[in-house]
Amino acid sequence: MKERILTGDRTTGKLHIGHYIGSLRNRVMLQEQYETFVLLADVQALTTHYDQPELIRTHLREVALDYMAVGIDPEKSTIFVQSMIPEIAELTVLYSMFVTVNLLRHNPTVKAESKSGSLDEMYYGFLGYPVSQAADITFCKATIVPAGDDQLPHLELTRKIVRKFNELYKPILLEPRVRLSEVPRLVGTDGHVKMSKSVGNAIALNSSTEEIAFKIRRATTDPARVHKNDPGHPDVCPIYAYHQAFRADGADEIRDGCTKGTMGCAACKGQLTIALEELIAPMRERRSSYETNPKLVDEILIRGTRRARAIAQDTMQEVREAMGLNYFDI
Ligand code: TRP
Repeated sequence: MKERILTGDRTTGKLHIGHYIGSLRNRVMLQEQYETFVLLADVQALTTHYDQPELIRTHLREVALDYMAVGIDPEKSTIFVQSMIPEIAELTVLYSMFVTVNLLRHNPTVKAESKSGSLDEMYYGFLGYPVSQAADITFCKATIVPAGDDQLPHLELTRKIVRKFNELYKPILLEPRVRLSEVPRLVGTDGHVKMSKSVGNAIALNSSTEEIAFKIRRATTDPARVHKNDPGHPDVCPIYAYHQAFRADGADEIRDGCTKGTMGCAACKGQLTIALEELIAPMRERRSSYETNPKLVDEILIRGTRRARAIAQDTMQEVREAMGLNYFDI
């Protein structure tokens, strides 16, 4: 039996090259080795965008297309829709009985994501989304969760919930471990610490050739470099960070030319633009084969969601039995 992986994304925006380098690339590799489940987290998306259901609905498909564009293969990975698995909601309610509010309110990721950080202002669903995430992971008994370090508090909570459940009722749930992304988070084109669609500093995976060139041309560089021959500081330059992420072999040469002032920003950006185009062109092609066939995309999501649902129903039956909630068949 292969070990199971579960991971996923909120469906609030298109995925970008930061997602690619931080997680998608890794998933494409891992699907060869593990039984992989990829969750379109539309319920978790509601915790921050409950007033924009249309946005979530649109991006569910966009994110699914992004997945397949980068090479997540629906024949190898199960791509499914969170809100269509009611057992995830059932498990969330049951787990929430033995998770304290105090534990939730100290979750550093939840605190960082909330605008005010004040519990009084926080929505109940948002405060509790890590419990729902524990249900995402445990319904399919995933033992590996590939994720960034911001997900560590959620994984710790999941492990706590599993231990508590197993101790209280019956040892049927599996404790997952995290598989941390080893690459640093990609900075935005404006130099901000995080590339993010909402900040407008991201390069989407479905960018056209012109969009890539435009975004790179407009991207921030080392502010101390006014003239072409001024020595640059690559470590403060997002363009250099992208060279490191996407052109492992060429980055040293860039650093050299930049620090010595022998390579100007325009030339440096030009090389990066070519590299990103090489990365994205095959994605564009794979994407368009699905985009032009929306029925196929529907079929893939239906098949994936059915497969996930069957597993969720089995787990739910075990959970009901463990808790003595299996009164009768209706
Ligand atoms: N919290 C993740 C994000 O911020 C999405 C997610 C939802 C997830 N459920 C998950 C990730 C379960 C890993 C495992 O995008």
